[in-house]
Amino acid sequence: MGTFNKVVGVDGVRRDTVDKLTGKERFSGDYKIPGALALAIARSSEAHALIKNIDLTKAKALPGVVRVFTAEDVPGENSYGIIPITKDQPMLAAGKVRFKGEAVALVAAESLEVAREAAALIEVEYEPLKASFTPEEALADGAEAIHDKGNLCFEHDSLMGDPDKAFAEAAVIVEDTYTTSAIEHSYMEPESGFAVMEDGVVVVTVSTQNPHYDHADLCRLLGLEEDKVRVKQATTGGGFGGKLDLSVHSYVALATLLTGRPSRLAYTREESFAASAKRHSFTIKYRTAADAEGNLLAVDAELVADTGAYASYGVAVAMRAAVHAAGPYMVPNSRVYSRAVYTNHVFSGAMRGFGVPQVALAHESQMEKIAAKLGMDPIELRLKNALKPGDKTITGQVLGDSVGIRECLEKIKAVRDEWGAAKGDDDGVRGIGVGAMLYGIGNTGVSNPSTAQIRVNKEGGVTLYTGCADIGQGSDHVLLGICAETLGLAREDIALVRADTMLTTNAGATSASRQTYISGNAVKAAAEMFIAKAVEAAAKVSGSAASELCFTGTAVKGPDGELSLLEIAESLRAEGRELEGEGYFDPETVPLDHHTGQGKPYSTYGFAAQLTLVHVDKATAEVRVEKLFAVHDIGKAIYPQGVIGQISGGSAMGVGLALMEEFDHTSDKNFDTYLIPTVLDVPDVEASFIEHAEPTGPYGAKGVGEPALIPTAPAIVNAIADAVGVRITSLPANLERVHSALQLMGGK
Ligand code: MOS
Repeated sequence: MGTFNKVVGVDGVRRDTVDKLTGKERFSGDYKIPGALALAIARSSEAHALIKNIDLTKAKALPGVVRVFTAEDVPGENSYGIIPITKDQPMLAAGKVRFKGEAVALVAAESLEVAREAAALIEVEYEPLKASFTPEEALADGAEAIHDKGNLCFEHDSLMGDPDKAFAEAAVIVEDTYTTSAIEHSYMEPESGFAVMEDGVVVVTVSTQNPHYDHADLCRLLGLEEDKVRVKQATTGGGFGGKLDLSVHSYVALATLLTGRPSRLAYTREESFAASAKRHSFTIKYRTAADAEGNLLAVDAELVADTGAYASYGVAVAMRAAVHAAGPYMVPNSRVYSRAVYTNHVFSGAMRGFGVPQVALAHESQMEKIAAKLGMDPIELRLKNALKPGDKTITGQVLGDSVGIRECLEKIKAVRDEWGAAKGDDDGVRGIGVGAMLYGIGNTGVSNPSTAQIRVNKEGGVTLYTGCADIGQGSDHVLLGICAETLGLAREDIALVRADTMLTTNAGATSASRQTYISGNAVKAAAEMFIAKAVEAAAKVSGSAASELCFTGTAVKGPDGELSLLEIAESLRAEGRELEGEGYFDPETVPLDHHTGQGKPYSTYGFAAQLTLVHVDKATAEVRVEKLFAVHDIGKAIYPQGVIGQISGGSAMGVGLALMEEFDHTSDKNFDTYLIPTVLDVPDVEASFIEHAEPTGPYGAKGVGEPALIPTAPAIVNAIADAVGVRITSLPANLERVHSALQLMGGK
């Protein structure tokens, strides 16, 4: 068992496909909840202000209003946030608002119309404070402090070798400043959920990426013991990092706890735009040194991220960006200083890539500039510096065996040559560009375990219990695949219970491209323990030696016949034991040193290179991506179609980051002005992968969710430079930016 790959690596229809296509699958908004209160939130009209008074009189007087809540009604600690050192966000503003759109009061009413009308009748008296809308403003002398601790949310330092000496001795130094935009996650399903009381327990069913983290923060906000709150993940229509933060959860939980009635809330798209996390915009100052042969000598980078009004994942984003600042290359000397800064924008949080897409723009642009200075082929330059097994990253981590960046680049190079030949003398209109990346799988330098259980069910089959939230990316199918492969079953033979804090244990967040690797390992370990336990118990019952017995998936077979799992379970139960396998996996990490940033942030990395062919219309400045070829080293594809799906979707999102997406905090309220790529903007992505098996991965698997997006924008920007000779350093490379760059060039 386990070695025949009967399930792992094999395609087929994903288990949730038919139910999603036929509408059988229920998202949280699809549930009928008799007697549920409708909720509406009154939101701040000010970006930064003291709350002098909240007048609820008119709202409360409206017929149909059941109750109105403010910060004073929050029974526990009115502060939450995913990272323990930055739990700085109130569920309802207490005395002060820090961004326009922040929740100030909550109305529960008999109908949605009444709830919304009442919310509009709430009168808040503000005393405006000076607001900061850029990190520069926020850090300037005289800036109004957004939080008591000031406006620097987090800083991270990293130093390796002697960068100053390396710069002094370098043959080539290139430097530039790069900026990236705030971005909306644009999941199809806005934030949505409902709560009911069941036997004194607040049960919250919600669209989320991490039910167990939600559970901990809800207990804190509500002041309840762990067993008085239950979070169930509803079928979730996308997250991309934006559903790691609490949204509707705390409001439905509060309303239901304090009224005893069910309640429900779904954000409108406008609310989602106004009050959900955004991708951090970055300013990146970057210097790179190389010798005359093109060997990279040093990197010196300063990163500043706008984390908005609350920290959310700001710490993780600033740190991960720093760790990845040198890209998939061997750089012996480095200095990186990274900061997340509070502003009065809506909070920034996690979004697919956690700061790495932003730094990838910088390191991949720098590679092109070095290649140009040295007259080298840009892919050859990358190959020359690409990390190999045993190489050191800029955190001093010695890489293990699964380092496939060279192979990715080799494949890209062959396709580049092919496209180049086909393109012919189309120079000045069409260009080809490459982007490469590495991405650490799992949370940065901290323990981030997953757990899973496998038990016999009443029918005599097995049930997999996992806390892992499938948010549409397909982790259910992957984890069942790993379970099936290990047990020698088919996926259809296994029942699944997932992402419910009462029935499953913590799998950590569906985030950081970690679930296939980390929860996959936990599931595999659970399956292995299940087999061992079944065989051991069967040996005892049958009197045979364990070595004579064989686990068949549904029974244990021996020389004297077989025992079903139910029979084995019964014999164990007689001893007060369960036929259950429990799995645990925590990737090996070493925390990053506070001063030098040295350590082992991740136990393994994904690698990738992507190639784009773009057409630039010099008259209109329109950039069209005509071809996109992607190669990802993912360790092992558990479900190959899923991998291809992730790469295709991720690179489509990368096209948005590259060419059009820029969240305008003052004007973007919905998709009428905030544009994301459509089918007309994204070419048929030629997605492929290579399998440099990760020895610590389940069947060799690593992860692909975020890597899918990271190389795309750099590849597009580099292709624009190849086509028309202008380098775009500020994303997105929209019509205005490309046009003015072309004008500038033409004017010279
Ligand atoms: Mo993601 S940014 O790891 O949900």
